[in-house]
Amino acid sequence: MKPVEWLGNKLKIIDQTQLPGKLAFLELRNYTDVVAAIKEMKVRGAPAIGVAAAYGIALGAQDIKAETKTKFLSQFDKILQAFAAARPTAVNLFHAIDRMKKAATAADFAAIKQALIDEAKSIHADEEGATRRLSQLGAKLIKDGFTILTHCNAGALATAGYGTALGVIKAAWEQGKKIEVIATETRPLLQGACLTTWELMQENIPVTLITDSMAGYFLSRGKVNCVIVGADRIAANGDTANKIGTYTLAVLAKENGVPFYIAAPTSTIDLSLKSGDEIPIEERNPEEVTSIKGVRLAPKGVTAANPAFDITPHKYITAIITEKGMVRKPYLHGLKKLFKG
Ligand code: MRU
Repeated sequence: MKPVEWLGNKLKIIDQTQLPGKLAFLELRNYTDVVAAIKEMKVRGAPAIGVAAAYGIALGAQDIKAETKTKFLSQFDKILQAFAAARPTAVNLFHAIDRMKKAATAADFAAIKQALIDEAKSIHADEEGATRRLSQLGAKLIKDGFTILTHCNAGALATAGYGTALGVIKAAWEQGKKIEVIATETRPLLQGACLTTWELMQENIPVTLITDSMAGYFLSRGKVNCVIVGADRIAANGDTANKIGTYTLAVLAKENGVPFYIAAPTSTIDLSLKSGDEIPIEERNPEEVTSIKGVRLAPKGVTAANPAFDITPHKYITAIITEKGMVRKPYLHGLKKLFKG
């Protein structure tokens, strides 16, 4: 399954808004279509957003007509700004923009367009490799017979790679461990009900779908051995932004003595932010709350809120699983160490 695929002069993506009913592919031929696909969550999940943006930036660069590098870079900057405005929380997007900017600045003018395609491919390969390695590391935490609760979708679809939280689950399964998964539906956009169940069923991994409100019931009855979720941005102190509802799960897990793990590549760590208070939280269209898949639920005119992410304070996190190692409290030192040497 290739959620994001570079085809030389266009970007092919799985339209995740049509899953699980339809496995539809979109071929995006210019950067504005890629920006729109990210905003409309046809491609979503922090690492996949970064990878799609990198390819989108390279795609946009191919259409630039400029006689000098300076003129090229000023047009290029408009493309970077368009992607920076797509979605605010997933830091992988901004790390990809930074890498593409550096690649453009460093390249000779004659080779700049190819250099950007190469950098986008390198970002993709890095995420692919990182998600595989962290999944192998995280699988050590999973024992035979475990039931794992997960929230949102942090699989191949969300990473354009192997997956993070779902990658750990897949790796444990591939090691022959008999495991089961409980997936929360993840309102308002149902990434759990529509994407996580679909991915796990493709792998024949046993999964039970629950509503978000049922998690406390299963945690309090000892039905869950650990919780594993992904991340959109991890601050220097370990505070973690992830899909709305993650914080609730973390508090419930702690209350019931259940380990709570974050699985994320280091491209999701943002050491420039001291704590979760500084992480920008995306506010999306309230209609995503008042309706499901376009079917209106709530009365016309009702006021609805729709913060797309929340912050789990580091005190609720048992460990952060990255491709460079597992980090436990105190996170400030442990996360910095990942980037040394
Ligand atoms: O709004 P989304 O679907 O992009 O949110 C995705 C999540 O919160 C994921 O858990 C996170 O991006 C990690 S994906 C490996």
